[in-house]
Amino acid sequence: MTITYLLVILAVMLVTGLILLNMLEQYYLSSEEENLERTGKLAAQFISTYLREGADPVLLSSVAENFSRQINARVIIVNPQSTVLGDSLRIGGYLGSRLERPEIQEALEGRTGRNIQFSSLSEQWVLQVAVPVEREGLLQGAVFFSTSLEPVHETLAAVRRFLFFSTIVAMFLAGTLVVLFAHHLTGPIKELTSAAQQMAEGNLDQKITVSSKDEIGHLAEQFNIMAARVKDMNQRLTRFVADVSHDLRTPLASIHICLQSLQNYEMEPEQQKEFLQDINQETQRLIYLVEDLLDLTRRQEVADKREIIPLSLLLEEVVDVTRPRLERKDQQFFTLIPEKLPYLFVSPEAMKRVLFNLLDNAVKFTPSGGWIKLSAETSENEVLITVEDTGCGIPEDSLSFIFERFYRVDKSRSSYLGGTGLGLAICKEIVEHYDGKIYVKSLEGKGSTFFFSLPIDPSLQPE
Ligand SMILES: Nc1ncnc2c1ncn2[C@@H]1O[C@H](COP(=O)(O)OP(=O)(O)OP(=O)(O)O)[C@@H](O)[C@H]1O
Ligand SMILES: [Mg+2]
Repeated sequence: MTITYLLVILAVMLVTGLILLNMLEQYYLSSEEENLERTGKLAAQFISTYLREGADPVLLSSVAENFSRQINARVIIVNPQSTVLGDSLRIGGYLGSRLERPEIQEALEGRTGRNIQFSSLSEQWVLQVAVPVEREGLLQGAVFFSTSLEPVHETLAAVRRFLFFSTIVAMFLAGTLVVLFAHHLTGPIKELTSAAQQMAEGNLDQKITVSSKDEIGHLAEQFNIMAARVKDMNQRLTRFVADVSHDLRTPLASIHICLQSLQNYEMEPEQQKEFLQDINQETQRLIYLVEDLLDLTRRQEVADKREIIPLSLLLEEVVDVTRPRLERKDQQFFTLIPEKLPYLFVSPEAMKRVLFNLLDNAVKFTPSGGWIKLSAETSENEVLITVEDTGCGIPEDSLSFIFERFYRVDKSRSSYLGGTGLGLAICKEIVEHYDGKIYVKSLEGKGSTFFFSLPIDPSLQPE
């Protein structure tokens, strides 16, 4: 990237420099030419009074010399036959000889002759201009000027040097800036790449220091969020496997002991029955656990087996099953269910799963002597079902996590009470599958209230 930027800067500076130099050269040359031509014409007017038959070459030479000094050019005066009548260069000049030059020829034809050439004599570039000398419309001869272009070339060389140095300075500055910028840009990207690589290798504990507020900073921020989530999910999964193994092992161990006892010891039929009952209970626990796990994978399938059923029927069935369990735990059970409830287009099995999960939690996390209330109310567009309890409640900082899979507030209590942290995650997925909402309000130590609402489809309701 640095090299590309530098090459672009170099190319731009070169092209601009060349164009600038060329323009400057053109400008200087044409203004020199114009100056010389203008002065030449004035001089020609002046000389015309001296240039006549038999004019004195000494006088004309001193006139030429005068002009030469003023305009810093060699001045030569010729008659119409190109014979030099006056030359500002007295010694070694052309006085008396014929000077045949194309510019002079042009001037003798009444036009201004111009030429730029390298003078091998002075080893310099020179600008030559010849103008006709006329008097009363008659051609008297011509004046020829030759001036060195050395000052112009010196100025152009100075500009060229300046451009060269400014290109070097610009490239140095741009190079430094580009290197700094590239470092600023690639530094965090390199850090991100190595963190991502580390994650791919299984080292999930990655965090990047977010130093900027630009897109890269935003990317780093999102990466940190993602890394934290992946790490959290991984930890929960590991814990889940441990919990599930533990939950599976406990009933299996009990079953194993019961079976061994039945096999190895002589027992009364009454005692045998007790052992078989224990086996039955533990097997039931295993079935529930496996069902929960299965639910995770086939919940979509279950939720899609929809039928139109009255909500009151669903609630009735759930209440009938739950009531004995509450009584066993010495908890009071209130219901506040209106007679007229809407028909829903849902899977009865999935809906009962939601209600059982919420009630199961309420029973599980409410001590003996507490109460649990199941209520339902309808508004114009939706039905709201509430499960309220006077249990241990949920700490505020856990409220936003409890609907996530495998999340349990108090791990030791939950494993003692049984549970894998899947119940509420399953509830949420089912409710949202039916375009409903599920949420909770809770006060630690006082109790919790879980709400879920489902939309009412007016076309399903009986007249
Ligand atoms: N009514 C409640 N009162 C207090 N805490 C609750 C209540 N309901 C849920 N929680 C908390 O939320 C956690 C998640 O509940 P969830 O039903 O998903 O899992 P679980 O009951 O532990 O296990 P599972 O339902 O899979 O048998 C619980 O472990 C518990 O800490
Ligand atoms: Mg639960």
